[in-house]
This record gives sequence, C-alpha cells and structure tokens, in this order.
Amino acid sequence: MTTRVVMAYFGVQWKGDNQGVASEAVAGLRRQLAVAPGSPRVERAHYLDERNFDTDIVITYWSSVDDFDRWFTQLGSQWTTPPPPTDRLGFFVEILRPAVQRFETLFSATDRPEGIGCLGPTLSGEIREHGYWGGMRDRLPIAAASALEPSGTPSVTHDGRRTRVHAVDNLCLIRSGQDWTDADGDERVLYLTDVEPVLRTGMNFLRDAGRPLGCFANRYMTVLSDDGDPLDKTFGMSWWRSLGDLERWAESHPTHVAIFGAALRYLSTLGPAATLRLYHEVTVAAADEQFFEYLGCHDETGMLASTSHRSGAALDSEVVETS
Ligand code: HEM
Repeated sequence: MTTRVVMAYFGVQWKGDNQGVASEAVAGLRRQLAVAPGSPRVERAHYLDERNFDTDIVITYWSSVDDFDRWFTQLGSQWTTPPPPTDRLGFFVEILRPAVQRFETLFSATDRPEGIGCLGPTLSGEIREHGYWGGMRDRLPIAAASALEPSGTPSVTHDGRRTRVHAVDNLCLIRSGQDWTDADGDERVLYLTDVEPVLRTGMNFLRDAGRPLGCFANRYMTVLSDDGDPLDKTFGMSWWRSLGDLERWAESHPTHVAIFGAALRYLSTLGPAATLRLYHEVTVAAADEQFFEYLGCHDETGMLASTSHRSGAALDSEVVETS
C-alpha cells in the first residue's frame, strides 16, 4: 500500500537567446524520466516570471519513494549540477515527499485526472467536504489530528554555487488548475474575457505582494504538450507559510473572492453546459519532507523568495554559510 508519494518539480530558468540550451536540458531530463523506475507521472509547464525570466518546469509524481530515491541519487540530483554550456541558465529542484495523510486533491470532473490524481487507479467519487470555506482542511486526513501550525523560519545554506532553502514545518503547497480545452464558442470567449483576467490579477497579486499574507512564492503556469506547445490549461502553484494563511487568502482576500465571483457568474450563465474543469491539490509538508535546491537562479525564484529581503517582505529568514 502506498503510504508516501513524491512530488518533484525540476525547473530551468533563462533569458533571451538561451532557450535552445534550456530546451535541450528539459529534453535530456525527460528522456531520463521516460525510462525511470516506477513510471512516474511527468508533466510540463511554463511561465514568464516577474523579472522576465522564462521558466520551464518538469513536474513528476512518484508513487514509490524508493524508486524516486534510486533515480534521484543516480540521475535526478545532477539537475542542479549541470555541465557547461548550461552555465548561463538557472536550475532548481523543489521536492515534497508527503505521507498520504498530508495531501488532498479535488476535481470538478473525474474523467480527466491531473497531477497527483493520476497516481491512483481511481478517484474516490463524489464527496461532501466541498462547497464551503474550510472544506480543504476537512479533506486533509492529518488535519483531524493537528492544527498544522507552521514552525521555524526559512533559512538558506550554500554549497558552492548551490543554495538550499530550509523552509518551515507544515509548509503548504497548492496547485490549483483550470482546463478550458472543451470550451468553444461563447463559453471560450466568456472564460477568456470574464474569468481568466480576474484569475491572472489574483495570481500576479500573490506573486508580487503575497508575502505579508504568508504566500512565499506564486507561479501562474501554462501547461505544455509533450512537444512544448501551450495547452488550454493553466494552474497557480504557490508555496505558503501555512495552510491557515492560504485559507485566509482564499476566503477573504478580494483577489480570490473576485475569482470565485467571476466563476459563479460564468457557471450561472452557462448552467450544466459549462465544460470548464477545475482541480486542485494541496499538501502540507513536514520539515523532513521538503527539499529545495537552486543553482544560478535569481533571488526571487521559488522558495528563494522566502529568504530574500525585498521591501515589503514581512517574513524573517536566516542565512548560514556552509562552504
Ligand atoms: C478560475 C480559477 C479559480 C476558480 C474558479 C476558483 C473557485 C473556487 C471555488 C468555487 C472554491 C470553493 C471550492 C469548494 O470547496 O467547493 C474555491 C476554493 C479555494 N480556492 Fe479557488 N478558484 C480558482 C483559483 C484558485 C487558485 C489559483 C488558488 C490558489 C493558488 C485557489 C485557492 C483556493 C483555496 C485554497 C480554496 C479552498 C478554501 C477552503 O476550502 O477553505 N483558487 N475556489
């Protein structure tokens, strides 16, 4: 029986004419993953960040920690020690290995699973714990036994050019996805004009101003096909100091309230004909279930942002030199 899974995000960051080298690195990684033990689920996504760096992320989901560990020790860990000519790119790995009690996933329709939902043979079917604020917490088994309060302060250690981030106990990751592949005609127009811009505003807010609310980092990503073409699928991926901080933003901040409102208007206009699919996965990871390593990335990248001292950052951090 699966008691623990692995969610591993492999990112490459570049500017301008370095796209070819970045694509080669991604292609090499994907070749390795295609023959990796345990046949992990592999997805690809892209975004342009606040400093105008392009980032491709290869997201992998593993149902066997042993398979992941073997593969990572042998091959995957080289992602953040790449050989030249990749020295003008940034590389990072962001890895969670949560016990199954520490994540939940929810789909508006169950016939096209995404992400962690692809690991199991089936989804559970309809559930009652949704449609009210607090549903996310009720779906997390660990929340029955713990308030999931954060503890600790993010810190970094350096190992040569590589930087490791040590985050907080009960760090929270959300991946919240939208799929409008099946929407055509008026529905597509309505999604792209009434919902997507509101979502984008919320995602940019979290990216640029989320830290005082507990959002360490946010990426609004576009899912890519195997060939690297953008699909009609996006997701917000964000790292939060705690589940409580994420809940507060979702329930009360004008940006998510506006997203929620736009979606309700959309759904009430279209009724049962709506084909937009929504899903999310939420993980609350213990300190020893996290691993963050960055090489050559700018200091607002992912969890590095939790320790950078940009003005407005309300979260403290410590820096420790180990080499
Ligand atoms: C078009 C995009 C989105 C729509 C339409 C949407 C709509 C909704 C709706 C209807 C709910 C209530 C769900 C339920 O329990 O049945 C909800 C909850 C939530 N949303 Fe969104 N949302 C969107 C994007 C996002 C994004 C990008 C994030 C974060 C990155 C997010 C974070 C949350 C969280 C954390 C909850 C759960 C709150 C709780 O159960 O206490 N949402 N959203």
